[in-house]
Amino acid sequence: MKHLLSVADLGRDGIEEVLDLTDSFVEVSARAIPKVPALRGRTVVSLFYEDSTRTRLSFEAAAKRLSADTMNFSVGTSAVGKGESLRDTVLTIEAMGVDAIVVRHGSSGVPWQVARWVDASVVNAGDGWHEHPTQALLDCYTLRERLGTLDQRHIAIVGDVKHSRVARSDVLAYTALGASVTLVAPPTLLPPSLEGWPVEVSHDLDGVLRKVDAVELLRMQSERQTEALVPSLREYTATYGLTRERARLLPDEAVIMHPGPMNRGVEIAADVADLPRSVVTRQVANGVAVRMAVLFLLLGAGTA
Ligand code: NCD
Repeated sequence: MKHLLSVADLGRDGIEEVLDLTDSFVEVSARAIPKVPALRGRTVVSLFYEDSTRTRLSFEAAAKRLSADTMNFSVGTSAVGKGESLRDTVLTIEAMGVDAIVVRHGSSGVPWQVARWVDASVVNAGDGWHEHPTQALLDCYTLRERLGTLDQRHIAIVGDVKHSRVARSDVLAYTALGASVTLVAPPTLLPPSLEGWPVEVSHDLDGVLRKVDAVELLRMQSERQTEALVPSLREYTATYGLTRERARLLPDEAVIMHPGPMNRGVEIAADVADLPRSVVTRQVANGVAVRMAVLFLLLGAGTA
């Protein structure tokens, strides 16, 4: 594997390879000194044109636990403000000698473009509304950990699907592993066309919750919305929020997920996010190990 741009490039076998390898990095992460020399001498740079807490820190932690050197690029403090283009920025970074570029950008397709310009490996850490493959991998890992398998499982993805790269990558990954997916959202928060999406759609959250193995809430992505897509947040929460009462409809073993950042009180009630069946912080912890597996698969050849 040279790049990780889309979940679709992995297929079922590729996803399972990452998840299986993640097991050993979960074990490394639990050690007193959570570090292995696997990527010593390699350099990983993160190139983030959009804000991020989890994803950026998670990749950085992953690279460091593999003993790679890390460099950080923030648009706010870079020469981008002086007018430097994306291509020149990328070529400048590559000239310093990097082995992998982890890129997040507000426009769909940018990681593919970067991959054409450089010899380094490129990891898509979120491109516009399009994809976020490592989030999907960590979500699959977390589900597999809690449910044993995704095969024949039923997962609901609830909320602002339209603007969510997480939803797109998750749908690809979950269905590749044999799960069925139901999207629950008001029509205004669904993509204009769902043609080719292997999903069902429902507007009845209560009905769906009764029969799922997992429910994943999506953040209301107000920063991407140019018009009012819901009458009011209060009304949205009343119909599509995972309230305390609604969470009681879930089967006993069902888990609650959220990719973060959460808007507590909007898509998920403040205390629901902290229930024992919520795996939100587990997702974050697994995210580091999954990214270690990804970086190792991309850069580890010949070092092990
Ligand atoms: C998401 C993202 O940025 O795509 N967060 C994440 O990476 N965990 C989801 C979001 O912004 O709501």
